[in-house]
Amino acid sequence: MKICKTIRVLRSTLERTGSPRVFVPTMGALHEGHEALIRHARTLAGKNGCVVVSIFVNPTQFGPNEDFSKYPRTFRADTAKCRAAGADVIFAPSPEEIYRPDASVYVDEIRLALPLCGQSRPGHFRGVCTVVAKLFNIVVPDTAVFGEKDWQQLAIIRRMVRDLDFPVKIVGHPIVREKNGLAKSSRNAYLTPSQRIVAAGIYDALREAARCEQTPTRIVALARKLIETLPWTRIDYIEARDAETLEPLTNRRRKGRLLAAVHFAKVRLIDNIALPRVAGSF
Ligand code: PAJ
Repeated sequence: MKICKTIRVLRSTLERTGSPRVFVPTMGALHEGHEALIRHARTLAGKNGCVVVSIFVNPTQFGPNEDFSKYPRTFRADTAKCRAAGADVIFAPSPEEIYRPDASVYVDEIRLALPLCGQSRPGHFRGVCTVVAKLFNIVVPDTAVFGEKDWQQLAIIRRMVRDLDFPVKIVGHPIVREKNGLAKSSRNAYLTPSQRIVAAGIYDALREAARCEQTPTRIVALARKLIETLPWTRIDYIEARDAETLEPLTNRRRKGRLLAAVHFAKVRLIDNIALPRVAGSF
């Protein structure tokens, strides 16, 4: 496995690798969620292909009061996990390698990025789209793997690729969870063991609400009621949306998604779950 810190070294390394090239963008602090994405990328690449993982804590997707400077950085452990999961190349650039001081072009998705996390984190998805577009141009992958944990991010990236004709196939990977159901996240590191147990109640609530064959409004109300009973919790949003367009879900005739963001203890946790179509429904 080769570690490249500059675009120049990455490009010359990639000249000598096989195809297909499968890419997993990350911000490091890798956990089993990321590892599952990398293992899936390995399967997609086969033994002749090349799996590239980027590790880059992208400053432009953090708001001024967010945790950019204290975001966990665990590079040595990350490289070991990448190797074990089957990566061939790690791209780990510095912010200066990616952003010129006078950069003046960015990528903005202007519809799917407005609600949900876009409301509470203005500018976040502009930062995500811009860095992912740049990484696609740097790595030039055939396929890129993203987690469903960040459902809105995945939908926005699919839209960016569609609307800007990136020749990259986007593959989504299901959410990897702790045994108790809590979605794995680098930010779980900020929680105490007992907080992690209570935080699993968020998924329990989403699951219970999603199970009932009810209208989207009733499902959201039930999820909200269940989550409100948890200690240390302040709901940012709970919404039922069309799984693909992220428009508000008004009935069960289309595939939906129940999405939640919750301020829990010192962290903001996000999670989501499928709302399957209900045949012959209201
Ligand atoms: P990061 O939060 O490091 O996540 C990298 C990838 O891992 C994303 O596609 C995310 O959805 C996926 N992931 C994280 N936790 C997961 C889990 N529990 N189950 C499944 N997949 C999971 O998302 C980002 O970084 C950044 O926004 C990035 C796309 C790298 C752009 O900077």
